[in-house]
Amino acid sequence: MPTPQKIRKAVFPAAGMGTRFLPATKATPKEMLCLVDKPLIQYGVEEAVAAGCTEIIIVTGRGKTTMEDHFDRSPELEASLAAKNKTALLEIARSVSRLAKVVTVRQPEPLGLGHAVLMAKELVGNEPFCVLLPDDIVDASIPCMKQMVEAFHEVQSSILASEVVEGPAISAYGCLDCSPHPGNPRLHAVRDLVEKPKFEDAPSPNAIIGRYILTPRIFEMIEGITPGAGGELQLTDAIKALLQHEKVFGFSYQGKRHDAGDKQGFLRATVELALKHPDLGPGFRNWLQEQTF
Ligand code: G1P
Repeated sequence: MPTPQKIRKAVFPAAGMGTRFLPATKATPKEMLCLVDKPLIQYGVEEAVAAGCTEIIIVTGRGKTTMEDHFDRSPELEASLAAKNKTALLEIARSVSRLAKVVTVRQPEPLGLGHAVLMAKELVGNEPFCVLLPDDIVDASIPCMKQMVEAFHEVQSSILASEVVEGPAISAYGCLDCSPHPGNPRLHAVRDLVEKPKFEDAPSPNAIIGRYILTPRIFEMIEGITPGAGGELQLTDAIKALLQHEKVFGFSYQGKRHDAGDKQGFLRATVELALKHPDLGPGFRNWLQEQTF
């Protein structure tokens, strides 16, 4: 039996143009939109770090360098805060750059999620890794990726976070055909998967959400696929190919997902997370209760 492998690296596909958020994303990366008091991508990075990852690989594109700056040291800001004795703010600024080692790689053309993940092949190397889609914010008492890493240690196979969605909404997701896995009610053995099926063709209401743990063989699978739904190289199709070689599991995580990649979802996430925020929450709740709208 091979030595169980640790998950050390997390890939963040973040090269998209964010057109659903225009005009906000004309010159600002969608991943840098501020949800309550930090940018979207920081939620995912903190989740990956909480799951034990030490290396963050951001797959980025033109005009998106503010993401790198965000996770880097900021000497002028730090000097200015230190000179004014603003120690609490200084600690906030420094803590972001200490989260993890952050490296970037470019996706030169938007050829799909599978292609974005392929861009990280050299940086990931021959080890299992996780993928977090920054649009999906998962609010959970145990961070979603930490739950998945624990499940990975059990099965040593690729794992896709999944949730049940009602009705035709399944057409916006990758969809799993799966059966229960004996011994762990959160794990489901995947039999098949299909990207953005028509409602009537969907094999189940189990949608893939933006958290994956993948074995490195996925890169070879991505290299072998042809454009699928939307004319893009789909990660879902590569995982389907992976099924021919290895087991793949769906995972019913504990927590609540917000689709912050959509204006409505972003607004809802803002209100819910603001209400839960330790400093801002109580005052915001009082203010909301006073409103008549
Ligand atoms: C991507 C994946 C899809 C998955 C979804 C989760 O789709 O291709 O399988 O269900 O993320 O958010 P996208 O939302 O990028 O169209």
